[in-house]
Amino acid sequence: MSPQDLVAAQRQHSSEYLIPETAVPPARLLMGPGPSETHSSVLAALARPTVGHLDPFFLQLMNEVQQMLRQVFQTANRLTLAVSGTGSAGMETCLVNLISPGDRVVVGVNGVFGGRMKEVARRAGADVLAIERPFGEVFTLEEVEQAIKQHAPKLVGLVHAETSTGARQPLDGFSQMVHDAGALLVVDCVTSLGGCEIPIDAWGIDAAYSGTQKCLSCPPGLAPVTFGARAMEVLQSRRSSVQSWYLDMGLVSNYWAESSRAYHHTAPINMNYALHEALRIVLLEGLERRFERHDLNHRALRSGLEAIGIEFVVQAEHRLPMLNAVKIPAGVDDGAFRSRLLREFGIEIGAGLGPMKGVTWRIGLMGETARPKNVLLFLAAAEQALAGQGYRFRPGTAVAAANEVYLKS
Ligand SMILES: Cc1ncc(COP(=O)(O)O)c(C=O)c1O
Repeated sequence: MSPQDLVAAQRQHSSEYLIPETAVPPARLLMGPGPSETHSSVLAALARPTVGHLDPFFLQLMNEVQQMLRQVFQTANRLTLAVSGTGSAGMETCLVNLISPGDRVVVGVNGVFGGRMKEVARRAGADVLAIERPFGEVFTLEEVEQAIKQHAPKLVGLVHAETSTGARQPLDGFSQMVHDAGALLVVDCVTSLGGCEIPIDAWGIDAAYSGTQKCLSCPPGLAPVTFGARAMEVLQSRRSSVQSWYLDMGLVSNYWAESSRAYHHTAPINMNYALHEALRIVLLEGLERRFERHDLNHRALRSGLEAIGIEFVVQAEHRLPMLNAVKIPAGVDDGAFRSRLLREFGIEIGAGLGPMKGVTWRIGLMGETARPKNVLLFLAAAEQALAGQGYRFRPGTAVAAANEVYLKS
């Protein structure tokens, strides 16, 4: 008996049952822009007994979460922890702690999340210069350098993996130029952490934030952040208090630091169990092997889609492996395609965001989702849904092209 059948039967036999079906989520394959598929042991970790937020067991678990986050971020930064909140809370944490009212900031806006960074910086009281690029493109080092010369900022914010477009912002070499101008480099790696290279120390990134629900394959709810030595200096020399009490790193880090453990807010205990388990899985696999897996599945998906004439939005050298933005073919109905995938196959993919709405689909291959079985099922389902709308191609072509990539790997 399926969970849904069980609920239906209970309903028939008990008039006291209150809207029980809302408690049983349908079976889904999450192939959108996040959340991604979650490993069963991560879900099991969520169901472990809740302990107090100052319980010695939990304090030890927090230490281990910090240690593992440092490995995943590839950093030695002491101030590395999981903020209670989703990726946006990580964004706010980095910006409100490093910006004091009146500070000059440069933000790269080439998608929805660069736009969000700009708005958060503005609300933190910054004088923001937003440099812009069309959705799907990335910034050159020279463009950022030019903006720095023009605005003399204290902080430069860039999105490494723009989930709204599928573009990967090159960052290697950027920090030197930012530091030479006396500024901090803050990077959004919500979608890239755990899925492709984002070595915080090697690339000289001063502060970065992520989210649990993308390539870490944990439900949404925590935001890993890390602050390096330069960022720490800024935190310590602030004259005004941080605009947000909840996200004030001075207060939050007193709870996470082994030496103090001062109550600040009640940590989401079970979410931290889940993140602990998710990070353990990431490190058991190994970062390099994990990045290779994301890359292989991206290449198979790409080969399958291109074989039936579906084009990518981003130029080949700047494509993200975990977020595949493709153009909706002419004559194909966006909503009808996505709802057929969901209804008949349980597959969720993402619609276009912002100006890409109705123009692109976003197919996520994040963390546990990046597996051959998911790519092959998606391509087979997509072939059926596309053929059903009269899109012309030879049936089986996409699946065969993806299989060829797997067979050669
Ligand atoms: C690049 C990027 N930054 C920030 C966020 C915000 O994260 P959340 O929706 O978890 O608050 C997202 C979410 O998709 C994202 O993709």
